[in-house]
Amino acid sequence: MNQSLIAEAEACFQQSIRFYNGKPVGTVAATEKVLVEEQLNYNECFIRDFFPCGLAFLMQGKRDIVKNFLEVTLGLQLDWESPIKGEGLFAEVRQALLTQDPQNEEWVRPGQGLMPASFLVVNQQEIKADFGQRAIGRVTPVDSGLWWIFLLKIYEKACDQANVPEEKIAHRPEFQRGMKLLLDLCLAKRFDMTPTMLVPEGAFMIDRRMGVYGHPIEIQALFYIALKVGLELLNPEDIQLLDLENRCHRLIKYIRHHYWLDPGLLRRVYRYQTEEFGETALNKFNIYANTVPGWVLRWLDRKGGYLVGNVGVGWIDFRFFTQGNLLSIISSLTTPKQSQAILTLIEQQWLSLIGEMPMKICYPAVSGRDWEIITGCDPKNVPWSYHNGGNWPVLMWSLAAASVKMGQAEIATHAITIAEKNLMKDEWPEYYDDEDGNIIGRQARLYQTWTISGYLVAQYLLQNPQYLDLISFSASPDD
Ligand code: GLC
Repeated sequence: MNQSLIAEAEACFQQSIRFYNGKPVGTVAATEKVLVEEQLNYNECFIRDFFPCGLAFLMQGKRDIVKNFLEVTLGLQLDWESPIKGEGLFAEVRQALLTQDPQNEEWVRPGQGLMPASFLVVNQQEIKADFGQRAIGRVTPVDSGLWWIFLLKIYEKACDQANVPEEKIAHRPEFQRGMKLLLDLCLAKRFDMTPTMLVPEGAFMIDRRMGVYGHPIEIQALFYIALKVGLELLNPEDIQLLDLENRCHRLIKYIRHHYWLDPGLLRRVYRYQTEEFGETALNKFNIYANTVPGWVLRWLDRKGGYLVGNVGVGWIDFRFFTQGNLLSIISSLTTPKQSQAILTLIEQQWLSLIGEMPMKICYPAVSGRDWEIITGCDPKNVPWSYHNGGNWPVLMWSLAAASVKMGQAEIATHAITIAEKNLMKDEWPEYYDDEDGNIIGRQARLYQTWTISGYLVAQYLLQNPQYLDLISFSASPDD
């Protein structure tokens, strides 16, 4: 355990906090000195980036900043008819928003319940939210609300553990309404029959064009978590009204069946029959065996298994997406056997998934003509860089949580020992490049806050495995 490194990380982490009307409300994405503020939005507080920060604060016993963050972001949620006045920072932010014009000539209003990707605190007095109307590529932050509701559950649990029930907030009318609006938006009926959630391109941590539209695994795992939190925190009439239990049950069955891949199943897909019609079809999505890429046959040759990146008509995205797989272990979306197999694969494929810096955001990178078509020739997403197979230290928190949960903490300990060799010396980069992640990302920000908090949470979890109770979900009745 590297205590001096932990102390250094804690000091840097402190620098990232931002205040609104005198209260700490969030952390900026990066505190690198030379940021060109107008060009980059790393001086904003991103909801997804705050998640590991919120965890770190709760593990440090600092509940107020997390509560403030949850109130502020709830105040920013799209909801123009709310009859609820609410309390605290929620009420302040809502009141301030009423004076801002939400209309924009070019864009239509997204559905109620959407939460912003990020917000900027101007002069500690004004909050400006970004729902994608300013973001690069104008991507929709589908994951924001899902991370928010996950953090809300963890905050409530932290209050229980600290025995301060008076600090709990989820029962307040504005929080009940916020959760309901969010789940309503996720459950809205669209042109789709699957229990998974359909999203546009770049709707989560990968917020650029990367062929991750449709039903990407990271969103499905977060969606599953949101449903479980709804079941835990919403009042019974709303649970019934939204039919949460039924959707949760269908989603878990569907993911475990259609997204799961192991060496045996892979061989079956490789020899799939096609053009099957009717209820008894085995190859339901009409996947042509020729679409099975060569790399996966070699990569998944021995042991282990994982949830594939995406499934659709005639399409399996065989890429391994780390966050979705680890969140599935943490939430028990995968069966205990499947969770074990994912960790086995990580161990088997240590060099490709962990390498010199835990860990790869997805594997493998797309290259050549695929890169041209899938990324739109994006120079930031060249093979083995950034979202296209870069290594992201923030993923350490999920790796630690998943391996502690499965009784294999040594995997995380080993990975973090590798990370520690360089993180501080390299000034906490956002991501690393190259097949084995040994070089600081070409356009990586330094002093990236979720790199720092991801490291801290991993360390806190290894020191005190009981923190896992905050994050993890118990086994599903379907196991
Ligand atoms: C980049 C990442 C995104 C992150 C943001 C702020 O846009 O792709 O996941 O939230 O930076 O760190």
